[in-house]
Amino acid sequence: MGYKVVVVGATGNVGREMLNILAEREFPIDEIAVLASRRSLGTEVTFGDTTLKTKDLATFDFTGWDISLWAVGSAATKEHAPKAAKAGCVVIDNSSLYRYDPDVPLIVPEVNPEAVHGYSKKNIIANPNCSTAQMVVALKPLHDRARIKRVVVSTYQSVSGAGKDGMDELWDQTKAVYNPTDDKPAKKFTKQIAFNVIPHIDVFMEDGSTKEEWKMVAETKKIVDTSIKVTATCVRVPVFVGHSEAVNIETEDFLDEDEARDILRESPGIMVIDKREDGGYVTPVECVGDFATFISRIRQDSTIDNGLNFWCVSDNLRKGAALNAVQIAELLGRECLKKG
Ligand SMILES: NC(=O)c1ccc[n+]([C@@H]2O[C@H](COP(=O)([O-])OP(=O)(O)OC[C@H]3O[C@@H](n4cnc5c(N)ncnc54)[C@H](OP(=O)(O)O)[C@@H]3O)[C@@H](O)[C@H]2O)c1
Repeated sequence: MGYKVVVVGATGNVGREMLNILAEREFPIDEIAVLASRRSLGTEVTFGDTTLKTKDLATFDFTGWDISLWAVGSAATKEHAPKAAKAGCVVIDNSSLYRYDPDVPLIVPEVNPEAVHGYSKKNIIANPNCSTAQMVVALKPLHDRARIKRVVVSTYQSVSGAGKDGMDELWDQTKAVYNPTDDKPAKKFTKQIAFNVIPHIDVFMEDGSTKEEWKMVAETKKIVDTSIKVTATCVRVPVFVGHSEAVNIETEDFLDEDEARDILRESPGIMVIDKREDGGYVTPVECVGDFATFISRIRQDSTIDNGLNFWCVSDNLRKGAALNAVQIAELLGRECLKKG
């Protein structure tokens, strides 16, 4: 016996990827429903070898469904997810709405799987921000060995992190650069994204940081350890899929770069590609469609006693969203719902 699963936001970047991953990982499904807004009622989406037609989220009845995977943004989640949770259908949400709620577990299965048991307080589990998810997969095993005190991270985030409209804007502006009569002003982003980088993701906070940067701080604390200090600079770059991060950590105990490389090699969800030669590292185009978080450029930070630098790349639509959500569903099934 398998699960009755609902994918909410099935026409979007993350929703489509959730359907691909549910099929690829052969999640035990008895019945599946795909939902989006009324605008796209009847739109066809692919699930394995089958084609499904989307239904309207606003009128869907979640009674009798086991698990729902959400990727529709905070506003639609706020309006509709409580109905699903109340009907007994566990909500696994990709938006930021519930991430900081103390009664909602925020889970990266390689890092804090034990938190899954807290789902029953609200019947909701939150999925972290894409930049946080890939970073904490790498931080956790290093923290277990040497206690991380401080993290300094700069991100290079792809436009797919801003949804399908973000991808369209990069595509259209790139073409327009070669055809200057076809002007494509910035709409989704605050400045031209084609052939440019923008040091601004999400809204500004009072202290001058952005909400995206704040999320990395708050979520790392909730998922890994409240004592870890994080400072982040989040930058949008003209890459379609795949987020990259330059990460610097300071640890309590000394951790040699070779030992760090060995620890990361043995850790779940991580692939180390770290040859000190031309091309001996991973770039975003190579991580697209992969499950792993790739780590390269591991090296000592010689400016402090206990410091390391590394480069971290992952498919933001997968580990940063859809894959992590499906892994949470697998964990929930294995540990709590126990069907399939
Ligand atoms: N992209 C990432 O890397 C990433 C990572 C982590 C988390 N997330 C989060 O995941 C969510 C979705 O992101 P995305 O990149 O997939 O966005 P997207 O490509 O813009 O897709 C949005 C999806 O939400 C649906 N939707 C929007 N408003 C709706 C409403 N009122 N009722 C029903 N459906 C509605 C859309 O349906 P229609 O086609 O009918 O409009 C579409 O299926 C966001 O909360 C985002 O912050 C994204």
